[in-house]
Amino acid sequence: MERTTLGIKGPEVTVLGLGCMYFGWREPEKNSLERLDQYIKAGGNFLDTANIYAEHWLPDKDYFGKDKAQFRDGGSERLMGQWLKGRSDREHLVIASKVGFPYPDVEAGTSAYRIRSECEKSLKRLGVDYLDLYYLHNDDRNTPLQESLAALNQLVREGLVKSIGASNFQSWRLAQAIALSRQNGWAEYCCVQQRYSYLRGKPGADFGAQLEATPDLMDFCESERVTPIAYSPLLGGAYTDPKKSFSAQYQGSDSDARLLAMDKVAQAHGATRNQVVYAWMLQSKPQVLPLVASSTAEQFREALGALELKLTDDEMAALNAAGA
Ligand SMILES: NC(=O)c1ccc[n+]([C@@H]2O[C@H](COP(=O)([O-])OP(=O)(O)OC[C@H]3O[C@@H](n4cnc5c(N)ncnc54)[C@H](OP(=O)(O)O)[C@@H]3O)[C@@H](O)[C@H]2O)c1
Repeated sequence: MERTTLGIKGPEVTVLGLGCMYFGWREPEKNSLERLDQYIKAGGNFLDTANIYAEHWLPDKDYFGKDKAQFRDGGSERLMGQWLKGRSDREHLVIASKVGFPYPDVEAGTSAYRIRSECEKSLKRLGVDYLDLYYLHNDDRNTPLQESLAALNQLVREGLVKSIGASNFQSWRLAQAIALSRQNGWAEYCCVQQRYSYLRGKPGADFGAQLEATPDLMDFCESERVTPIAYSPLLGGAYTDPKKSFSAQYQGSDSDARLLAMDKVAQAHGATRNQVVYAWMLQSKPQVLPLVASSTAEQFREALGALELKLTDDEMAALNAAGA
């Protein structure tokens, strides 16, 4: 699988990351371990988790009727820790985790205390000595940016974290953060992880704590060489799964026009809509790295197929121009 550097001097990652959000709860243990193995076998090295996965979204009973308490406290990280145990390739993996959202007994925020204590917990659950990438999961406006960045920098200096990133940030706040890091000689964000797909949320669409990547943010990323990373690229599977539909934020004439454009490209290549989404991101300028979350081996093979899909300049232009 092709690789790229995150930002100017971040880690080298494969262009498809593996989203591990559902591991250990919605995806049963066996499935999750199989997806990890399948991803590594395909040449992937970039694993995405967070301290809150997946407590945040759990109903009282999970999909299999198991009690929520069983998944408390970093279920995804624990499952990954179990998988990592005894592996000899840890140094070839890029393991990313995040801090900032609340979960039982842990308040929201990115204070210096919260950053350090959550980093230490993530390291313990994963059973590793360092994280390759540590994100602020959201922009905590109650903590001075200076405090959060200094705390992240201290973790980097101690070798507990190799590089840092931001998620759910606006571009002007990223610009502030990067300026502060440069002034102080601190570690800089090498990437920003946002909600992003081929369909765009309607103007003013509200995704709660999640922020969509905007054209402004993409412009910023290109100018400052910060790598954009896309979460929820397939909109939960709604592009192709007949049992699912796009949420209200994505419904309207802009999406209708973009679906027509993507179908034309998909048809010309004998590809699926999902593959067009991934290929379009990977061939965009700046390149956007999608986090792939597959619940079956078949879904993951479909994602891999996107790496073979080469879109022409005309097709990229048509896809970019489509919409209201
Ligand atoms: N930073 C943040 O705030 C944030 C927020 C959300 C997610 N994330 C990260 O991003 C990752 C991906 O997010 P996401 O799960 O929302 O991604 P997504 O790509 O929008 O949705 C993944 C889901 O789509 C379905 N799917 C996957 N491949 C498919 C295929 N070939 N055909 C049909 N359906 C398919 C599966 O659902 P079924 O099992 O129902 O088929 C799968 O669970 C997460 O694991 C996490 O690491 C970060």
